[in-house]
Amino acid sequence: MIRRYDYGSPIFTHAIAIPQPVCTGDMPRFTVEKNGDAISFRVHMDEDDQIFGLGESVRGINKRGHRYRAWCSDDFSHTEDKASLYASHNLVLFSGKSGVFGLYVDDPGAVTFDLGYTRGDEAVITSENGNCSVYYIEADTLIGAVKEFRHIIGRSYLPPKWGLGYIQSRWGYTTEEDLREVAKNHRERHIPIDMLSMDIDYMEDFKDFTWDAKKFPDLKAMISDFKADNLRVVPIIDAGVKLCPGDPTYDEGVEKGYFVKKEDGSTFIGAVWPGKAVFPDFMRNDVRQWFGDKYHGMLEAGVEAFWNDMNEPAIFYSEEGLDDAYAKADELRGKNIGVYDYFDLKDAFTGMSNSMADYTRFYHDVDGQQVRHDKVHNLYGAMMTKAGAQGMKSFNPDKRHLLFSRASFIGAHRDGGVWQGDNFSWWSHILLNMRELAGMNMCGFLYTGADLGGFGQNTTEDLLQRWLQLGVFTPLMRNHAALGTRDQEIYRFSMQEDMKNILTVRYALLPYLYSEFMKCALTGSSMFRPLAFDYPQDPACLRIEDQLMLGGECMIAPVYEQNARGRNVYLPEDMLLVRFRSAEDYCLIPMEKGRHWIDLELNEMPLFIRKGCVIPMSRGGEWVGGVDFTDLTLLGWIDCASCYKLYNDDGFTTSPVLEEGLRTIRCKAEGGRADAAGEGLRLDAAKVIVG
Ligand code: NOJ
Repeated sequence: MIRRYDYGSPIFTHAIAIPQPVCTGDMPRFTVEKNGDAISFRVHMDEDDQIFGLGESVRGINKRGHRYRAWCSDDFSHTEDKASLYASHNLVLFSGKSGVFGLYVDDPGAVTFDLGYTRGDEAVITSENGNCSVYYIEADTLIGAVKEFRHIIGRSYLPPKWGLGYIQSRWGYTTEEDLREVAKNHRERHIPIDMLSMDIDYMEDFKDFTWDAKKFPDLKAMISDFKADNLRVVPIIDAGVKLCPGDPTYDEGVEKGYFVKKEDGSTFIGAVWPGKAVFPDFMRNDVRQWFGDKYHGMLEAGVEAFWNDMNEPAIFYSEEGLDDAYAKADELRGKNIGVYDYFDLKDAFTGMSNSMADYTRFYHDVDGQQVRHDKVHNLYGAMMTKAGAQGMKSFNPDKRHLLFSRASFIGAHRDGGVWQGDNFSWWSHILLNMRELAGMNMCGFLYTGADLGGFGQNTTEDLLQRWLQLGVFTPLMRNHAALGTRDQEIYRFSMQEDMKNILTVRYALLPYLYSEFMKCALTGSSMFRPLAFDYPQDPACLRIEDQLMLGGECMIAPVYEQNARGRNVYLPEDMLLVRFRSAEDYCLIPMEKGRHWIDLELNEMPLFIRKGCVIPMSRGGEWVGGVDFTDLTLLGWIDCASCYKLYNDDGFTTSPVLEEGLRTIRCKAEGGRADAAGEGLRLDAAKVIVG
């Protein structure tokens, strides 16, 4: 059951795809309190109540015990104390003795979620502007609550099948030679790969929709050579447009009045990579249309994928902010600066980036009304994604587009994927990556993943190796690193053979991963779920923070500690452990429900398959198009019979019909061994254990 309650004057956010009638009367369970502009929703929590949701956010799968703030933030330091990351996914679900219920706060401004922080027994959710539609959700189960919510927010974005391939990326591939070198090293060593991302280095002076002709003399030829080698490039597009008379994007935007303006009608200027920049008013449909059409130039050159960045929007400084900081410096120049002046001076410079002062300096045109940016801040990235998606769809309406973004708001889950931003090469960020998967799936973001190996700071080969072992399962699988960090491509490391072997597992599992992705997207379910969702009656499952259910048949439990040679795992039922070293080298170990220590050498990764289930595995390939989805080995452990619903299609159809893509694989045990059949499929059941 979902009920909508409106407060103040809600702004249309595009989050809800199926409009709900507005209810009058009191919201169940929550007390509603007005405090100035703000409106809060307060609920008492029992000691054992848990809270799920909030999509991309720090800390645990269970969100209880911290104060979060929905405020899309360009903050690369994803530490526990943070309240905000790049996304605002305002869904919380409570689960405990009094059942399953929750709220979705549809508000593009700041929303705080005090989830047992001020008082351990209370959750208080506050819309700071007080203009919001709040959706009260109640269901019998957590899975049911997510399903109902996902139904009203509409179908998740579908990438093309090749979007599930491995992406090698780096901020710092500055020339065509760099890219060709990376491609060559992968192909020569048979390291599977489908895409190379192109960071801001490819642009001419960091201008959107340009490329540096000196460093990339013939983009078209390069792309076509890569294409012949089954590789695609993924260029970045930034939200800020360089202030540059003579640049067509800048000139057109100025002429048409497409950039956000200050109260006095002058264009707001903020600095990002190119120095001074201006910001398209993505809240306007005509601006989205225009900006989206700008993607066509590169699409015409053969590009088929993009990533949208810096779209919180990130603003390093504005002219006003810089003036204030200089004024502070002038004021203190020559003085004997004491501690508080020193703090002020420091803050004047460090607090210049992404400042509230700047976010209240400019306005958007929202349906003809001037709305100050901070009131709609959290929608900016989502609307840029919408612009990109529209542009890509209009260029090629017959094929799915590949697009992922840094900032997001629910609603953008229909237009593109999301990567989890600038993490660090920290072991704790493997765990954070995994935990975010669960929350993001609840909010509809299925095409997601983190920078494998870590973006900031120098990785180590064991960290990359263990991170790849989680990345094998994330739909968006990208190794990305920051400028100035150690080289992070697989072939740079002495363990490259082991890492390559782990990648072969990804490609071999594609029929399973693609099937589960598509089934979840088309039915509004989550590909990754906390164990508490699937086993609500098992108390041992309720608080597990380092294992997730994957699809209908599997559970994952990656190793996320340095020097570990295994880990503890809780099996909520009998499961088959597949200990993979590669797609060809693995062992199958039937295990009973309960707690276990699992040995896992650095070159080994676990996958658990529920007893009674089978999953398909292909013979792999070095790119997605090279994987045969019809020649399959089944893995599993069954007593007598099992069946698996394989989903497959051409990989690009824009309106896939679930039933048309499904094929049933039937597996049964006869005389102590398994046999399998499925129309149009070559199946080998020798790896299905019977008993
Ligand atoms: C910030 C993005 O998060 C990161 O992935 C990218 O490499 C840099 N911007 C440079 O474009």
